[in-house]
This record gives sequence, C-alpha cells and structure tokens, in this order.
Amino acid sequence: MTNKLMIANLKMNLEKTDISNYIKKLNNHTNNKNIVICPTSIYIPYFLKQEYSVGLQNVFYEENGAYTGEISPTQAKSMGIEYVIIGHSERRKYFNETNYIINKKIKKSLDSNLKIILCVGETTKEKNFSKTKKLLKKQIVEALKGIKDLDNLIIAYEPVWAIGTNIIPTEQDIKNVIDYIKNILKDMKVLYGGSINESNVENLKQIDNVDGFLIGGSSTNIDKFLKIIDIIYE
Ligand code: PGA
Repeated sequence: MTNKLMIANLKMNLEKTDISNYIKKLNNHTNNKNIVICPTSIYIPYFLKQEYSVGLQNVFYEENGAYTGEISPTQAKSMGIEYVIIGHSERRKYFNETNYIINKKIKKSLDSNLKIILCVGETTKEKNFSKTKKLLKKQIVEALKGIKDLDNLIIAYEPVWAIGTNIIPTEQDIKNVIDYIKNILKDMKVLYGGSINESNVENLKQIDNVDGFLIGGSSTNIDKFLKIIDIIYE
C-alpha cells in the first residue's frame, strides 16, 4: 500500500451531529496513520485515540499566557495531536499571517515535536505574471529562516487559485512546481492541495513526485472522502 499522506482540512465546517456521523463512518473504514484529520479545534477530542492521526488547522507561537482564543503547540502536543497546518492561504488572507509570523509558529511547533504542514502557493495574479517560483521560494525561505532540522516538516503546494474553485493545475505543472520545491529543500515531502475530488484524484495520484494530498471541501463530505481514501490507498 502507498505511504502517501492524506490531510483532511475540515476548516470551519460541520456541526456536532454531522461530526458524530462523520466519525462513525470514518472509524469503520479507516485504520491508517497516514490519514490526518484536521477538524475545527473544538471537535478534536472526538477524533483522538483512533487509528488515524489528528492535526490542528492553525497554532499560536507562544507557549501559554494571555492570548485569548489561541492554542499553543505544547497544549496541542499534550492532547495527543501530532500534526499542525501552518500558513494556509486562508490564514494569510483573512488573518494577515505573514511569513514572519509563520516562521515563529513553525519554530515553536518544532520545539513541541509537532509535525508541520507548511502551506505555500501563488495567487492568480502571481501566476499570470509568471511569479510562481519566485513567490514560492520567498515563502519557503522566509518561513524556514533559522530552522536547521527539517525532519518534521512537510510542504503542501496549494495554488491559491485552485482552492475551492474546482480548477486544478495540469499534472505537468504540479510535477514541475514540486520538483522546484524539492530542489530547494532536498528530501522534503511535498503534498498537493486544491480542488481535489473523487474524479480527479486517480490522475493526481499518478504524479510520481507528489507525496500526498491536502483536501478541503471534498473531505467535509464523509462519503466522498471515503471514496477518495479508497482511490488513494487501493
Ligand atoms: P479545497 O481546499 O480542497 O476545498 O480546494 C484545499 C485547502 O484549502 O487546503
């Protein structure tokens, strides 16, 4: 069986009753630690201690203190959470997360031994001006400034224009960009994310340098998500 990683980013979706149904079906179907569920934080306790892994969608860069509404890497680790998504484009866009802030979050999370999924990706405008590679390099270099041990780091390449739009890059473009990232960071695991669904995942999984997937919208519907799991791990 493939050891590709599959990260489900449920974002701010689903309510308590949806979650019980989701978990029931997921638990019956899945015993693979390479599947990482990142639910809205308040639901995390329901997902813990199962055969899959659990991640946070975001984290703060201080260990404790008067930071209303935030969750620290040490708190996450103490709950048994293994992964954290950092630098998602929605965090960058709606919460003004800069590469500098992302760098602080990564450093603190590494101190707590969390596995980090660092999201990078270009906007439509950057793509149209052929700035993709330059932008990705900047995001990566600034996010990883001063960090030497990259063992617990995974990059997710998520073109902003492909998130939630049903538009995906060509397979060749994904391959080229991932090659480019792997040239900057040797031996790095790189995932693809953006509008993955049960119809396109079969082709996406054929791209030989993709180490896994970050799935948003299609992971919020458990039936669709289980189909995608089956396709990836068949
Ligand atoms: P999407 O989201 O699968 O809905 O495009 C991906 C993501 O934001 O990680």
